[in-house]
Amino acid sequence: MQTRKIETIGVTGSGTMGSGIAQVFAQHRYCVRMTDVRQDLLDRGLDTIRGSLDRFVQKAKLTAADRDDALKKISVSTGLGELQDCDLVVEAIFEDLEAKSALLRSLDRICKPETILASNTSSISITRLAAATGRPAQFIGMHFMNPVPIMQLVEVIRGQETSDDTCRTVMNMARELDKTPVEVLDYPGFVSNRILMPMINEAIFALMEGVGSRESIDTVMRLGMNHPMGPLTLADFIGLDVCLNILRVLQEGFGDPKYRPCPLLIRMVDAGLLGKKSGRGFYDYRTPEGKC
Ligand code: CAA
Repeated sequence: MQTRKIETIGVTGSGTMGSGIAQVFAQHRYCVRMTDVRQDLLDRGLDTIRGSLDRFVQKAKLTAADRDDALKKISVSTGLGELQDCDLVVEAIFEDLEAKSALLRSLDRICKPETILASNTSSISITRLAAATGRPAQFIGMHFMNPVPIMQLVEVIRGQETSDDTCRTVMNMARELDKTPVEVLDYPGFVSNRILMPMINEAIFALMEGVGSRESIDTVMRLGMNHPMGPLTLADFIGLDVCLNILRVLQEGFGDPKYRPCPLLIRMVDAGLLGKKSGRGFYDYRTPEGKC
């Protein structure tokens, strides 16, 4: 079945996820307009993209010419006006309902009527975000996984009002990015985090109860289940605050105590031990000079 032509992509937010999403579209010949609230954030996002593309060139997975082409496809700006004629805009800012809703209201006002709006949220209801716009039929979840340039999955989440046309268009586009899209419904945590976060939470309970050391728990899951990272390493990689947030969404959304966050996780977040991004989580990521 014919789907809409998508050529120009907007990405709002230039952090780890936003820059990864912009990169993947640019590598597949889409014109990308990436926005953020400050130029220094955009510069950092572009540096991340350059670094990732360089890694692919070093590994001979990409030619230097293709890297340069991809970089040329990305323009950046601190205003949303540049996004008005985009065919699809992917929102990838921090996980906050109010902030996302405000941004989506602005995008709804600025973008042409045909633009599809998508959110990369990992936990907020797509139906609720769609309600901030006047185009819920053209609103959808496009949940990319970190690191976006490497991970195969895009979880495509249908909100209550998402149209078949929007869903088909986004599923086909994800395939054009050489990703594997999986369509799911809008329930708390969708599928990915509904299953991943209880596993991570259970690993933290096991650590708290002294069932095993952090290394033992991670090794059991890496070597016993062939997971690329153990659950505690993965929690550090995702961010302990993000994990806690998602567990609270699951707990509240289902009203089931089985999703209660482990007290150790809550204490670590309270202490600012957020994982890789803060330098310490279950493991210590600080350089030898930075260590106490
Ligand atoms: N750009 C380009 N290349 C990258 C890259 C990036 N950002 N990150 C990693 N790579 C490449 C490396 O260069 C390397 O390439 P080769 O195989 O050619 O050598 C390859 O990926 C593997 O990387 P590393 O050797 O550095 O390390 P690794 O083997 O441990 O792999 C990993 C790293 C791909 C991150 C792997 O550990 C992994 O898959 N971990 C699990 C990640 C995961 O579960 N992500 C989902 C998190 S949940 C989420 O995102 C959603 C949410 O809502 C919370």
